[in-house]
Amino acid sequence: MVHGAEAVRGQAGGHGHGEGGGSRRDFLILATTAVGAVGAASVLWPFIDQMNPSADVLALSTVEVDLSPIAVGQAITVKWRGKPVFIRHRTEEEIQAARSVQLGELRDPEADEARAQRPEWLITVGVCTHLGCIPLGQKATDPKGDYGGWFCPCHGSHYDTSGRIRRGPAPQNLVVPDYVYASDTVVRIGEVGPAGGAAA
Ligand code: FES
Repeated sequence: MVHGAEAVRGQAGGHGHGEGGGSRRDFLILATTAVGAVGAASVLWPFIDQMNPSADVLALSTVEVDLSPIAVGQAITVKWRGKPVFIRHRTEEEIQAARSVQLGELRDPEADEARAQRPEWLITVGVCTHLGCIPLGQKATDPKGDYGGWFCPCHGSHYDTSGRIRRGPAPQNLVVPDYVYASDTVVRIGEVGPAGGAAA
């Protein structure tokens, strides 16, 4: 029922000031909770059950992440259903950059407001929509591409601070998974909210 998942944190910003007091770590292990729903039907149908995903797989269908340790400008990666999910605590500048873009400029037009339930948190599947590489941009030292988001070095796709494709061969934006906020500081990835994954 409860699993740990590893999260890797880097600094997403590189926006200069605020080196402050806190210790800066490149890696952080965050406790996450995976919740799986196992239906009663699988108990009634043992033979069919053997063909269903294992309990482990089901348990990973939803991952709960505590956002409170992630400072503004930082990002973490969590594993969900075998894929990396990027969670970036966006700076005001990143939010402004994402929201000031005209949709007509975009290859895969999508408003940032439709991609981020809360402006400060961008949550996307970290898989390039070209051929499936994992884009760079999570760590402070990573290149973030020409639009300040992510850069896929495999064939040169640039994503903006909303995870939208802006340059290079990728045809679509980074996918926004279903998720809900369980509280002010906890997000549950993989769960469909009452109004869908990216509703306001
Ligand atoms: S897989 Fe990312 S650009 Fe080709």
